[in-house]
Amino acid sequence: MFDFAGQRILVAGGSSGIGLASAQMAAQYGAQVTIAARSPERLTKAVAQIGHGAQHAVLDLIDAEAVARFGETSGIWDHIIVTGSDVKIAPVRDLPLPDARQAFDSKFWGFYHLARSARIAPGGSLSVVAGFLATRPVAGRALMGAINGALESLVQGLALELKPVRVNAVSPAVVAGGMWSHMSQEDQAAMYARIGATYPAGRVGAGEEIARQLLLLAATGYATGTIVTLDGGASIA
Ligand SMILES: NC(=O)c1ccc[n+]([C@@H]2O[C@H](COP(=O)([O-])OP(=O)(O)OC[C@H]3O[C@@H](n4cnc5c(N)ncnc54)[C@H](OP(=O)(O)O)[C@@H]3O)[C@@H](O)[C@H]2O)c1
Repeated sequence: MFDFAGQRILVAGGSSGIGLASAQMAAQYGAQVTIAARSPERLTKAVAQIGHGAQHAVLDLIDAEAVARFGETSGIWDHIIVTGSDVKIAPVRDLPLPDARQAFDSKFWGFYHLARSARIAPGGSLSVVAGFLATRPVAGRALMGAINGALESLVQGLALELKPVRVNAVSPAVVAGGMWSHMSQEDQAAMYARIGATYPAGRVGAGEEIARQLLLLAATGYATGTIVTLDGGASIA
């Protein structure tokens, strides 16, 4: 389906969830994969899972100087996929302000930092995972909607500013695993069943489905400024 032979692909956030699925798939299709995230232990485990000579870099996307240094020293990438973020979700009046700011720092500014300094080959691509809440507000998730909306808008502006580098986003609804892994298996299963039943697809997404879409955007030279809402129909439900 894809041919990434000899291409350098960075997955920032590649030690878990959608990022790990993307890194695994890219490596299977021949890419030289590097994953970046904060925890060296999780990175080491993930690299072993990915195989195919995958490498890792310890990087906190919130640290603008560290990301700038990484951009200068890590060479030219064919494609970059950004899934790294660490956000707390709660209604605006319940979420402590420092947590709200941290969420924006992590998901929006983290991507911004990398977009600002990473070097990407002409015709190569930069993709981020935003979220369907950008266009389908849900009570209790207003901040996430705002962050995702800001990301989607940034992606389209960057597609103009960074051309011939292509810039795209995938916006899912709930995807199993990943950021929900702190919950017990039973609680996850109950949450996926309850929420999935409200989606026209009848279930929540799988990390591999989002990964495939991210790689498709990377592999499609005509795709830029593209936002793919891949949400099981959640945004029209
Ligand atoms: N899963 C869903 O239901 C869903 C739905 C819509 C959108 N999304 C979005 O999709 C993205 C991936 O979600 P996921 O479920 O795959 O999450 P996840 O499993 O929690 O993975 C997050 C990855 O990002 C890394 N990371 C977190 N903060 C970072 C930072 N400051 N700098 C560098 N790396 C960082 C994590 O490793 P370390 O902690 O070691 O740094 C991990 O590798 C997120 O942006 C999320 O908002 C997810």
